[in-house]
Amino acid sequence: MNHDRRGETMRLGAFFHPTGNHVAAWLHPGAQIDAGTNFRHYAQIAQTAERGKFDLMFVADAVAVRDGKLAALSRWPQYMVYFDPLTLLPAIAAVTKHIGVVATATTSYNEPYHIARKFASLDHISGGRAGWNVVTSSNLSEAYNFGREEHYEHGERYDRAVEFVDVVCGLWDSWDDDALIRDRATGRYFDPAKLHVLNHKGKHFSVRGPLNVARPPQGYPVLFQAGSSEVGREMAARFAEGVFTPQHTLEGAQEFYRDLKGRMARYGRPPEALKVMPGLNAIVGRTAKEADEKYRYLQSKIHPDVGLELLSNALGGFDLSEYDIDGPLPEVPDHYGVLSSQTSLRNVVRWARTEGLTIRQLYERFAGACGQRTVTGSPVDIADEMETWFRRYGVDGFLVHPAYLPGGLDDFVDLVIPELQSRGLFRAEYEGATLRENMGLKRPPSRYSAVST
Ligand SMILES: Cc1cc2nc3c(=O)[nH]c(=O)nc-3n(C[C@H](O)[C@H](O)[C@H](O)COP(=O)(O)O)c2cc1C
Repeated sequence: MNHDRRGETMRLGAFFHPTGNHVAAWLHPGAQIDAGTNFRHYAQIAQTAERGKFDLMFVADAVAVRDGKLAALSRWPQYMVYFDPLTLLPAIAAVTKHIGVVATATTSYNEPYHIARKFASLDHISGGRAGWNVVTSSNLSEAYNFGREEHYEHGERYDRAVEFVDVVCGLWDSWDDDALIRDRATGRYFDPAKLHVLNHKGKHFSVRGPLNVARPPQGYPVLFQAGSSEVGREMAARFAEGVFTPQHTLEGAQEFYRDLKGRMARYGRPPEALKVMPGLNAIVGRTAKEADEKYRYLQSKIHPDVGLELLSNALGGFDLSEYDIDGPLPEVPDHYGVLSSQTSLRNVVRWARTEGLTIRQLYERFAGACGQRTVTGSPVDIADEMETWFRRYGVDGFLVHPAYLPGGLDDFVDLVIPELQSRGLFRAEYEGATLRENMGLKRPPSRYSAVST
């Protein structure tokens, strides 16, 4: 896998925080200030991403507002007020034709039947464009909304998630693809032999089935995953078809790519059945200087209260307010075990120790990109970076996080996409009708049939 890859195209997803990915995005005069509750805004950015031929748009989620110091939260609207993804995306599906619609839903605070039903419905409504980002939730605030005083422990979360996904897929197979014969002549609506009762009784769930929605057009909506820990990777290897991950160096990305694809054989899966799509916080200008100015402008808008809060969250709630903001990061006690278990958060400590960053520099790096890699430059600079990572097997594509919306996405679509297309690295037209077809993923057969359709 270390030769140059030719003749392949990359997968691109668009990640939509309402006002944009940068913590200070909403302060940019070009950002849609009420984005979280503005459907027209979402419709517009979805259509722009579709104009850019993105494989998918992705909406993250938590079932709680963020907890923290109100002084900081009141300056930082991300994930405070915004639409429920599974209510938003069917409406988006109605105003788009090709782009995949991918919603996050947690396995910790849902029941499999609900999730199977909602995503099957989204897949039908969108004509086979649905995807589910399976998360286990990393956020204690969610526990308090669901009758719990603490969040499930990391290993248990993943254990529950694996069973959850298995049940959901089983429910999606409730009806064979050709079960609904709807034959007026015989008066038979469905073939009883083609309806299957799951009868699942497991460690976490007991679900009889069948599902009250027909088998999704894609068989299963495309399954995504975004955990990078040991158990997270193992779960991805087992069933994920797209993986979102923060990767900051090509070497790290290549290691992650090899590791993840290497694990798939254990589950009888070929490496191409999973697309690795690291985050890319691209800040594009017509020239490198213009891009740099855009970036500096956003960075200058980070309020220290917000920066400290973000960093403190990343460190498992460790309070940094007593420390010199221009001094080094102190020793951080690992109260919640997050540093040892959550790869993405470990990056912060590594940056502090290996690069000697101060608290301010750390939060600036982290806050600007929400933990993802930032690349600033001209369209050629950005495309060069993307091409190198792609050709050298660090990625199968990227999850592009526009810094502010809608302007940051317009820039990417108008400036970077044509550059990628002219290099033959990205499609000029959608290849298929479904998200699976566009991503080059096979339609899964039903567990009840030996032969797939
Ligand atoms: C791009 C990206 C998007 C994510 N979106 C969500 C999300 O919407 N909701 C959520 O609870 N967690 C989300 N996560 C967090 C992951 O699901 C996971 O909990 C986190 O990466 C820690 O993984 P680990 O426990 O395997 O280390 C996201 C992570 C990444 C990298």
